[in-house]
Amino acid sequence: MDRFAGVGVLLTGAGSGIGRATALRLVEEGAAVFGVDLSPSGLAKTAAAAKGPGRVVTHVADVSDESAVVEAVAAAARRLGGIDVLINVAGLHRTTPIDTLTVADMQRLFSVNAVGTALFCREALRHLPDERGVIVNVASSAATHGNPYMSAYSASKGAVLAFSLCLASEVAHRGIRVVPVSPGTVATPLTAGGDILPAALDTGYYQRIRSLFGAADPEQIAGVIAFAASGDGGYLTGAEIRADGGSHT
Ligand SMILES: NC(=O)c1ccc[n+]([C@@H]2O[C@H](COP(=O)([O-])OP(=O)(O)OC[C@H]3O[C@@H](n4cnc5c(N)ncnc54)[C@H](O)[C@@H]3O)[C@@H](O)[C@H]2O)c1
Repeated sequence: MDRFAGVGVLLTGAGSGIGRATALRLVEEGAAVFGVDLSPSGLAKTAAAAKGPGRVVTHVADVSDESAVVEAVAAAARRLGGIDVLINVAGLHRTTPIDTLTVADMQRLFSVNAVGTALFCREALRHLPDERGVIVNVASSAATHGNPYMSAYSASKGAVLAFSLCLASEVAHRGIRVVPVSPGTVATPLTAGGDILPAALDTGYYQRIRSLFGAADPEQIAGVIAFAASGDGGYLTGAEIRADGGSHT
């Protein structure tokens, strides 16, 4: 498929997991990808793994830093000769039991997941072309489903979802689409551990909501994002695509 031949894509979170898989998929389909991430080594791995016919250039930036976002979007427009598609994937997760929830955790989750997404939308909308510009924002199935110990993360992703639905209606007059994509559990570094779970955690709960298909591969979510961003998804806007393997049905 060459759905992205000649298309310039600004992609955050390109240094790992779903973002890297999306970069590789879009380059395979012909896109010129401007990949942003906090991690220089992650971006280098993505660039090394990318196979044409498209290409990827990388840019290190913290998506929660307003001036860094302004600079990143301007650089993307210069390097790509315009921006046709914005895909916000960068995000982080923290387990936050309510009794030990901190303001710092809440603020970090919101500033990266929600504010970072909003800033990239604001800046990229100055460049996205009327009638064919697309924004895909990665939210989470946790935005619409209760999971213990994930209230702060889920709230930040609920903000991404609500922001995306409102923005879709606000930019519809320009013919620009905004599509929130909400993955369920995906096998990436984000879910691979590092977070210390409380001893009282009801892990049986997670078994009950787990997809019978198991965790998704990041490539499966990249395929959904590519669909939403491509002409094949041309009638999609302001509607959440929940790619959760049926875990919440
Ligand atoms: N893995 C899952 O189960 C799952 C489920 C639902 C939603 N998501 C969402 O998908 C997105 C990608 O997650 P993933 O699983 O690929 O995780 P990941 O940890 O593999 O990748 C996240 C990437 O975001 C980057 N990042 C984090 N903070 C950043 C910042 N401040 N500035 C720039 N880059 C930053 C990281 O460096 C990393 O490369 C996230 O928004 C996550 O919340 C993941």
